[in-house]
Amino acid sequence: MAGDDPKTPPSEKGSGSDADVPKDLAKEIKYIEELFTVDTAKLKQITDHFVKELEKGLSVEGGSIPMNPTWVMGFPTGHETGTFLALDMGGTNLRVCQVTLTDQQSEFDIIQSKYRIPPPLKTGTAEELFEYIADCLLQFIQTHHDDLSQIGRMPLGFTFSYPATQNYIDEGILQRWTKGFDIEGVEGKNVVPMFEAALARRGVPIRLAALINDTTGTLIASAYTDPKMKIGCIFGTGCNAAYMEDCGSIPKLAHLNLPPETPMAINCEWGAFDNEHKVLPRTPYDITIDEDSPRPGQQAFEKMIAGLYLGEIFRLTLVDLHDNHDRRVFVGQDITKLRKPYTLDTSFLSAIEEDSDENLSDIAGLFQNKLNITPNKAERILIKRLAELIGTRAARLSACGVAAICKKKGYKECHVGADGSVFNKYPHFKERGAQALREILDWGEKKDPKEEDPIEILAAEDGSGVGAALIAALTLERVQKGNLHGILHPENYV
Ligand code: GLC
Repeated sequence: MAGDDPKTPPSEKGSGSDADVPKDLAKEIKYIEELFTVDTAKLKQITDHFVKELEKGLSVEGGSIPMNPTWVMGFPTGHETGTFLALDMGGTNLRVCQVTLTDQQSEFDIIQSKYRIPPPLKTGTAEELFEYIADCLLQFIQTHHDDLSQIGRMPLGFTFSYPATQNYIDEGILQRWTKGFDIEGVEGKNVVPMFEAALARRGVPIRLAALINDTTGTLIASAYTDPKMKIGCIFGTGCNAAYMEDCGSIPKLAHLNLPPETPMAINCEWGAFDNEHKVLPRTPYDITIDEDSPRPGQQAFEKMIAGLYLGEIFRLTLVDLHDNHDRRVFVGQDITKLRKPYTLDTSFLSAIEEDSDENLSDIAGLFQNKLNITPNKAERILIKRLAELIGTRAARLSACGVAAICKKKGYKECHVGADGSVFNKYPHFKERGAQALREILDWGEKKDPKEEDPIEILAAEDGSGVGAALIAALTLERVQKGNLHGILHPENYV
């Protein structure tokens, strides 16, 4: 069959018309199915290992998963009030909000502006990054307030969604950059003074009251409106979770002699799960992603799940199928555009999965427009299957983390609040995650399709806006009660 000769480079194989390419890529499909499928037994094995690693992270010796104490020491009651500023530095966007928690139980008003973080800032200097953040904040304030002194009285919650050590709620010592950020001179340092210096240069009288992780914000914001919420998750550019632990189960805090039953939200930073590569079924493509990333050896779990990486896993697989494996994919086509790293984002995969047309004509259009490749029918079927496999693997592996926290805490029934672009926009992500939880936790078949699952992963409230405001409010309450554990600058709440 034409195109089967592995010695001839594909670019020299002629026209690329349908006559040249195999009509059936069953062999290739079988290969990717074997590579990307994670069966129930494997999910259970991963979950069991995950439970042990969560515990290790809380121990004095520590482990791969940081399990960072956040000094968020309790759930909201729904009666919190006040006006707060919230700044959210995610992996892709920057958002500034003003949140008012109203007198009405669990209600809030919010005004906000969103700014895209220019990609070069992710690998620039710390000063450039914090100057940009301060500029956005200033612009927001100038739009919404005539009187800057008014702003000075509003505590600010800064959602900094990277692993940070917090000896206090108002500091954040960056452990390492994640999500493709690579800015020199920040790791190992407290980012709060860098941020405050940029504000001071602009004469903005803002007081940072709390530095929070997006997962902790999600947990608290979700629990504000739904007391069954026990875990906050982000499935977006990155992937992570937070839950409420009791201080007695955090051996690494034992030296502080906090009452054992005191609650403490833990930012797991579970993206780092299995950095030792003991259980995760990594493919050659996952290995390449890791090796070519700014932090090889870090965020093993995240790199198989998060939005930043799904398109890249897909791209690497297709390039390999074209170049190797008997060279029966995109025979004779120029795949130069496909060879460019990180050229496809997760929305490209979402669009592929959404093509339900029998002829898969949307996929044809997507490949033509974005990559200048004309896939034939067999290739379009393979493309769709590959997207499904990668999306399904991400959802199923994510469920292992949720199941592990539930097992560790003994939660048989609860709600899990989830946010992030993958959770909110990726087709079937929720159903696939729910199915995996069912398999891991042995719930058996549903009798009635309308019946709630014992553990449900639901769309969260806005963690980095409302959650940040609530955390500032809860901390303010602690200051007023004189419970100053983990608060370095109580004056920022006066
Ligand atoms: C990365 C960050 C983590 C964050 C997650 C989701 O894993 O390290 O702090 O919560 O992305 O944004």
